[in-house]
Amino acid sequence: MTEVEWWDFDDADEMAEAVAGDIAFIIESALDARGNATVAFPGGNTPKPVFAKLAEKQLRWKHVTIVPTDDRLVAVDSPLSNVAVLAKAFLPLGARVVPIASADAADHRLAGNAANARLGDLAFPLDLVWLGMGSDGHVASIFAGPDLEEALAGPKDRRATGVLPDPMPADAAVARVTLTAAAIAQARTVLFTIAGGDKRTLLERAIEDGEASTLPVGRLFAQLSVPVDIYAAA
Ligand code: 6PG
Repeated sequence: MTEVEWWDFDDADEMAEAVAGDIAFIIESALDARGNATVAFPGGNTPKPVFAKLAEKQLRWKHVTIVPTDDRLVAVDSPLSNVAVLAKAFLPLGARVVPIASADAADHRLAGNAANARLGDLAFPLDLVWLGMGSDGHVASIFAGPDLEEALAGPKDRRATGVLPDPMPADAAVARVTLTAAAIAQARTVLFTIAGGDKRTLLERAIEDGEASTLPVGRLFAQLSVPVDIYAAA
């Protein structure tokens, strides 16, 4: 099992401050070491205050490439689009924001192939994969359903895949594309942000169960070898 460090915060704002500082440090270190940084940021609500604080940091943003860890197969002007949130926060700073979802793909598998090809053009391994977790134990868009094994245990060189969650998440009941577990496991740094005591308990248990976990996040953890920082707001 990989090494896990928990960072607990009383409120979301305090957590956002700490996470933004740590991500800025990771980006800066990548820029110093390699001249560019390529990072994957999650969707959902927890990251939004972090995006705002991170965008205030003086970084060499023109050398930073940001991709969503996963996205919903919707038009970029949809409120469900993850890349739209990233574009709004980071394009004005000069960062390169790369979409991975194609709303017009005939089905989620073709969209997954297109996302995989798009990621094939980027520098790998990623300097950072930052992840959230759903209360059903999904991570990025690695969901229970017919595409779970492909996302968790597909070919090692596969960077992204299409996913049709089953059951569909109520808040965004659409097909997705996601980084695969293999692509996440290669990353130089992996961190999680979660909010709410229930999620902390769920995640602790999933990490403990590892490969035997019934949750996607537990099985992902079983594949990670870099130390993982988990930031948890009460
Ligand atoms: C997406 C995500 C997803 C998200 C979790 C947590 O659905 O787009 O990337 O994996 O991180 O659902 O979302 P919250 O931060 O809103 O709880």
